[in-house]
Amino acid sequence: MVLGLGTGSTAKHAVDRIGELLRQGRLTNIIGIPTSKKTQEQAISLGIPLSDLDSHPTIDLAIDGADEVDPHLNLVKGRGGSLLREKMVEGACKKFVCIVDESKLVKYLGGSGLAMPVEVVPFCWKFTANKLQNSFRNSGCVAKLRKDCKGEPFVTDNGNYIVDLYLKKDIGDLQVASDAILRIAGVVEHGMFLDMATTVIVAGELGITIKNK
Ligand code: A5P
Repeated sequence: MVLGLGTGSTAKHAVDRIGELLRQGRLTNIIGIPTSKKTQEQAISLGIPLSDLDSHPTIDLAIDGADEVDPHLNLVKGRGGSLLREKMVEGACKKFVCIVDESKLVKYLGGSGLAMPVEVVPFCWKFTANKLQNSFRNSGCVAKLRKDCKGEPFVTDNGNYIVDLYLKKDIGDLQVASDAILRIAGVVEHGMFLDMATTVIVAGELGITIKNK
């Protein structure tokens, strides 16, 4: 099996478990495709054989977390900054299983009031951020450059910046919003994962709920 390996504090547990099952010989003959440099390092440390999308353009299954999940299983991802590689890998999957706790469930994307990430090229990022903010002014959008712990621009694994969109209201039709974001020159990718998750597994106080597409 070719397995997409997710990024983030939740996906980390899945990758650890895959490593453990391999070590125990209960899982054999798998190849992992990591969605970030961090997950790549983790997988190497666990002895998980790795490859990439160039060599394995079709992935059987990916397991990853999410920042928000709406009732139609659309996701926001990328608060960890790995949205581009995640979207490339998870877009190439036959099955994408998303693992979250119930705090990630929202009525609509952006509804947590937390960031909706957009990866942009560093060149004139303010220009791109202003375009993004203006595009969604009806949703009360505020666009902010993500900073690292030193107060410097956060740099993704691909050498880009992240502009986080904060919305006061529903962004409207998600496909229309997605197209509008991707039409802005300077945008590389956004963190809305529309119609991509085939299953979402939600951990809550009362146990596990499985939602299928
Ligand atoms: C990484 O960029 C993200 O897409 C993560 O997958 C997502 O933010 C979920 O992360 P946590 O499991 O750490 O909340």
